[in-house]
Amino acid sequence: MIGLIVARSKNNVIGKNGQIPWRIKGEQKQFKALTTGNVVVMGRKSYEEIGHPLPNRLNIIVSRTAKFEGENLLTASSVQEAIAMAGDEEARRRAGFVAKGEVNVYISGGYGLYKEALPLVNKMYITEVDTTVEDGDVFFPEFDADEFDVKVGETGGDEIKFTRTIYTRRVQVKKIGDKEVVYRKLTEADLDNFIGIRITQLTEEYTVEGREVPKNVDLVAAHQDFYHRHMADGTFVSWLAFDGDKIIGTSGMSFVEKPPYFTCPTGRIGLLSSMFTNPDYRRMGIAKDLLDHVVDEAKDYGCGAVWITASNMGVKLYTAYGFEHNGNYMAYKL
Ligand SMILES: NC(=O)c1ccc[n+]([C@@H]2O[C@H](COP(=O)([O-])OP(=O)(O)OC[C@H]3O[C@@H](n4cnc5c(N)ncnc54)[C@H](OP(=O)(O)O)[C@@H]3O)[C@@H](O)[C@H]2O)c1
Repeated sequence: MIGLIVARSKNNVIGKNGQIPWRIKGEQKQFKALTTGNVVVMGRKSYEEIGHPLPNRLNIIVSRTAKFEGENLLTASSVQEAIAMAGDEEARRRAGFVAKGEVNVYISGGYGLYKEALPLVNKMYITEVDTTVEDGDVFFPEFDADEFDVKVGETGGDEIKFTRTIYTRRVQVKKIGDKEVVYRKLTEADLDNFIGIRITQLTEEYTVEGREVPKNVDLVAAHQDFYHRHMADGTFVSWLAFDGDKIIGTSGMSFVEKPPYFTCPTGRIGLLSSMFTNPDYRRMGIAKDLLDHVVDEAKDYGCGAVWITASNMGVKLYTAYGFEHNGNYMAYKL
């Protein structure tokens, strides 16, 4: 996932005299939480302002003139190159960066990086700072907000307040081989098609051991009811992959809450379901891309963990992604 993180004032200022023009307790917390263990990409001036690589994450500095290399530190000559470098095993090894599972790339400014990254980002974490900055000299570039879904998150701050917002690109296109795969969220208009795919898949799994599907269970009506209710209250999201008009991959994430615990203080858990790729489109990375999308949704919802009961085929994908077996997981059938 390629993300962008920025804090901007009401008049769109992000910098003044080489610095961020406000100091607000807790404002940088999200930046640390998102980027730790992942990749942060920043412009040469922003890097020089900080003066050292940020710990516990890979820092890629974008510059056409300077070269910084070292522990957790690399240099690229463009944002595009930085994104490629973030996924390049050899470059990561050079910087001694060891990632646990899947990593995200976060573009963290300033202006030139944001400008180049805007068409490439899947997600933008924009902190709206409730202040007007006079004589700002670096601004966040203009973009078309209609291309994004916007979620308004928590507020915080002291004398100056801020509000977190998350912009998720509605339609994401990826070239895979000679195909253009389109990823987007499930809508009400897709439901009949989506439910059809799911019931076909459930039927295949159920009948594989010679069982016949029960005649008295109306799974279509049950699915319609489920999706209507849970899409409306935001406790179910799904991302789909398309080749033209055809759905070629599906995913789903439900959100549930348990009493909080230390590794999950929100108590929120994502339950993964509906992972399916059309057999003609397998081994192209589509399931992983879909997984990325719904895992991000779980992060944005504040989940501390994602659970799945994996099929044998799925175990490989989830293990490579960073899922771990829960040795004591048990189920009681009702
Ligand atoms: N509010 C926020 O969230 C936020 C976030 C980040 C920064 N800031 C603020 O913004 C200001 C710094 O931003 P800035 O825009 O002036 O500087 P910057 O982006 O940090 O650094 C600019 C330098 O980065 C390189 N660069 C930028 N775009 C490039 C591109 N597309 N391809 C290749 N190289 C590129 C160039 O380096 P070379 O000259 O070496 O080629 C350029 O001179 C500071 O005031 C900082 O505090 C605010």
